[in-house]
Amino acid sequence: MKFYIKTYGCQMNLRDSDSAAALLIEHGLTPADGEADADLVILNTCSVRDQAERKAIGKLGFLGKLKRERPWMIFGIMGCMAQSRGAELLKSIKHLDFAIGTDQIHRIPEIVDRIATEHEKTAFFDRASAETPGIDSHRFDGAESPHSAFVSIMRGCSRYCSYCIVPFVRGPERSRPKESILNECRTLAAHGVPEIFLLGQNVSAYGLDNTAPPPDDAPSPFGELLKGIAAIDGIRRIRFTSPHPAYFTQALIDVFAQSEKVCKYVHLPLQSGSDRILKLMNRPYDTAKYLSVTDRLRRAAPGISFSTDVIVGFPTETEADFQATRELMDRVGFDNAFIFKYSPRKGTRSAQMPDDVPQEVKEERNQILLADLERRAEAANRKLVGQTFELLVEGPSKRNSARWSGRTDTFKQAVFTPDPAHPVACGDFVRVKIVRSTATTLYGELVPAGS
Ligand code: 5AD
Ligand code: SF4
Repeated sequence: MKFYIKTYGCQMNLRDSDSAAALLIEHGLTPADGEADADLVILNTCSVRDQAERKAIGKLGFLGKLKRERPWMIFGIMGCMAQSRGAELLKSIKHLDFAIGTDQIHRIPEIVDRIATEHEKTAFFDRASAETPGIDSHRFDGAESPHSAFVSIMRGCSRYCSYCIVPFVRGPERSRPKESILNECRTLAAHGVPEIFLLGQNVSAYGLDNTAPPPDDAPSPFGELLKGIAAIDGIRRIRFTSPHPAYFTQALIDVFAQSEKVCKYVHLPLQSGSDRILKLMNRPYDTAKYLSVTDRLRRAAPGISFSTDVIVGFPTETEADFQATRELMDRVGFDNAFIFKYSPRKGTRSAQMPDDVPQEVKEERNQILLADLERRAEAANRKLVGQTFELLVEGPSKRNSARWSGRTDTFKQAVFTPDPAHPVACGDFVRVKIVRSTATTLYGELVPAGS
């Protein structure tokens, strides 16, 4: 049987799809190139914004047509929308065979066997501990990015930001045991994976068991985890997403100064630069705290780069609130940002507030922030021309396969032309001197080893 998994949404979903694929391969199935040559198709869905749900629903409709031509096909949904609306969708969509919640990925092989023989619709939505079977399963042959592996360190979120549906669909924060995560990283290192990308909705709260934000001088179980991973031979880079500003303590900041392997790049969701809006969002920090974290990180790790998430058009957001966001973004000097137009999600606290910023204003604010970003990124990258960086090679560049591309420690994409006398491979480290730049890409020349 051939399977295909289509993934929507965040890195957490990419990781869940990958562990589902590893479990299916272990169970004897083979990956298909696309849905048209698959016998089993699973949509891994996202609920964070309305648009993400609409995309998956559209795809489900299209799959109905496919099933008329290939009636033996099995269709399932997993992920956030499956958790929140799976039961309803299973009833209303005739060609949907199964729906599973975010904690039930390990049951997919058993479900598929059952449907193939008994042809009965199946659903599992229960919550489980963070350490479910398969959470540490990886595909080593045919992995999309063999140089880097996602490692899920916790499940769920207990922050209840007022706009966010995640705590409702992914359940409360649950951390995996440290030793189990370290074992997974050791296995990855033994398979030659040099970069680990730790994942969780609120990674800086790892090991804190749902507590409110700790005082700044509290110990950091997440920092300890980073140090444990850094001690593994073969691991050369450690990244993570996403931390929460209110949980970024001094002990965690110190790890950036102590460990070379912890990459000098932090994606730190800001959401808004207005203290009034942050309160309404139930984000337990203010802009002064945010700046204190980024300033201290810059001192601990000079050259560090930051990216962020920002929501524009949150209920009651005024022009002055928006300008405060613009100013703060400028002050931090983000290298990248994901800007989202506010979209009310059913059941969240902010859905009870008036969605009173007109769509055109949300669009306009979105465009302004994107233009600011581009201008800033162009200027920041220009300053890097002439500098030399170590790149983790990711493979031939998508635009021009004669060139190869890789990432700096600070997560910047850099492109170079390999030297035919010294072929490079995905996962290698090379040194590159930057000769040209745009807002999104650095262009460099290989620096011969030893020079
Ligand atoms: N509307 C718009 N953006 C949202 N996000 C989460 N919920 C919403 C919503 N209701 C954004 C936040 C979060 C990112 C993953 O998605 O910025 O950090
Ligand atoms: Fe959503 Fe807030 Fe949790 Fe992030 S920290 S997943 S925005 S509730």
